[in-house]
Amino acid sequence: MRIMKNNKYNKKPTSLHCNDAGGGCRYSLLTIIIWTVVGFFLVVHLVSLYSRKDNNIHDDVSSSDQLQVVHQHQHQHLHLHHPVVHQLVRVEEEILRMPPPRKRSPRTSKRRSRKPIPLVEEFLDDKSPIRHLFFPGLKTAAFGPTKDMGNETSYYFPGKIWMDTEGNPIQAHGGGILLDEKSNTYYWYGEYKDGPTYHAHKRGPARVDIIGVGCYSSKDLWTWKNEGIVLGAEETNKTHDLHKSNVLERPKVIYSEKTQKYVMWMHIDDANYTKASVGVAISDNPTGPFEYLYSKRPHGFDSRDMTVFKDDDGVAYLIYSSEVNSVLHIGPLTEDYLDVTPVMKRVMVGQHREAPSIFKHQKVYYMVTSWCTGWAPNEALAHAAESIMGPWEKLGNPCIGGNKVFRLTTFFAQSTYVIPLPGVPGAFIFMADRWNPADLRDSRYVWLPLVIGGPADQPLEYNFGFPMWSRVSIYWHSKWRLP
Ligand code: GAL
Repeated sequence: MRIMKNNKYNKKPTSLHCNDAGGGCRYSLLTIIIWTVVGFFLVVHLVSLYSRKDNNIHDDVSSSDQLQVVHQHQHQHLHLHHPVVHQLVRVEEEILRMPPPRKRSPRTSKRRSRKPIPLVEEFLDDKSPIRHLFFPGLKTAAFGPTKDMGNETSYYFPGKIWMDTEGNPIQAHGGGILLDEKSNTYYWYGEYKDGPTYHAHKRGPARVDIIGVGCYSSKDLWTWKNEGIVLGAEETNKTHDLHKSNVLERPKVIYSEKTQKYVMWMHIDDANYTKASVGVAISDNPTGPFEYLYSKRPHGFDSRDMTVFKDDDGVAYLIYSSEVNSVLHIGPLTEDYLDVTPVMKRVMVGQHREAPSIFKHQKVYYMVTSWCTGWAPNEALAHAAESIMGPWEKLGNPCIGGNKVFRLTTFFAQSTYVIPLPGVPGAFIFMADRWNPADLRDSRYVWLPLVIGGPADQPLEYNFGFPMWSRVSIYWHSKWRLP
């Protein structure tokens, strides 16, 4: 007796028979499966090519017609039909003309960005004949509640000088916003920069002496009242972290319901940026005074640009550029928000991202960061994650409108914070700093609408071109207002 072994080789081939008058035809089921799979991948590939083509248009657009095409395409995916949001996402072009070539001042070459773009060189040159386009002067181009704004009251003018309620330029660079739910008031904290910019340090970049953290309050995110320096520099004790010869950057404040304290986290450094630490301060009131507690290297690592993010469940996280700015570290704070816990994840490893700003929409976390080129502007990137601890997936450059150089330089600015827009889910304000390395106190604010929706502009390969995440879009406007 021949024993048939039950293996795949001696199984009778499964087949489909079709007997017609012209003789039988035989298709192996395997062949059909193979062709079905091939067909499926072909369709997927075509769809992916199609969607990529649309996104490419987006990158290359130069005419407003094309922009509108892209724009309409996006609208199909977005919940932007909302009339309120509609005006924010209008694509606005900006034409900047290069002046004739000339010799640069030696300082400009020091400030050079790593990838020289002629317009960026102009931007960094304080003698540039087109400087007024990047840093419009006080007389012609200031805005705020003390100015006679006619029917332009409440309009933001990114890059122009923004006045507080007393008619002084707002000093809150590298800032962040706290919405105080008790008083329903916004507080804007940032680096108060006044006094001269020094270029004297061999290893460090241009800097100003620490004055402290400035705080401004507002009900409408446009009219800002100066609440004074809420954490001041130390004048005499040279060993103190806040001695004026050191560096205090990117202060961010969160409120702890548990301890009922306002907790400030900030980047603390020496003039050469070698201390690379975070500092923590605490206050009973949003307007201070804040008591400085200590500084440390979180998780034992160097920490430069940083931010804190308080999640809906009350857990707060510290996010900082580490390992000489090559990696972002992210980890939860202790319950009182006064320290980090031992938990930490390395994200965007080797990508050299800094200036992190985090926000959340429909359970997804988003982060906009910059590349590392000191005070010189560079291209922003958006990332998304289902868990704040990662993995973070790259979405691409979120900047829309302006012109190509605007989009490659984050509108000549660098991210610092993203504010959820009250009452408009999926809409935010992107807060960025247009640094003026020749005179840091004259750095400007670039606030623009940011919306979440539509497909990512660089769909992930393994996803066959089907975008997994929504796109983050920051729309350029030379003038705009909140809905
Ligand atoms: C930037 C950073 C700023 C400041 C500056 C100093 O990269 O984002 O906050 O530290 O470098 O050059």
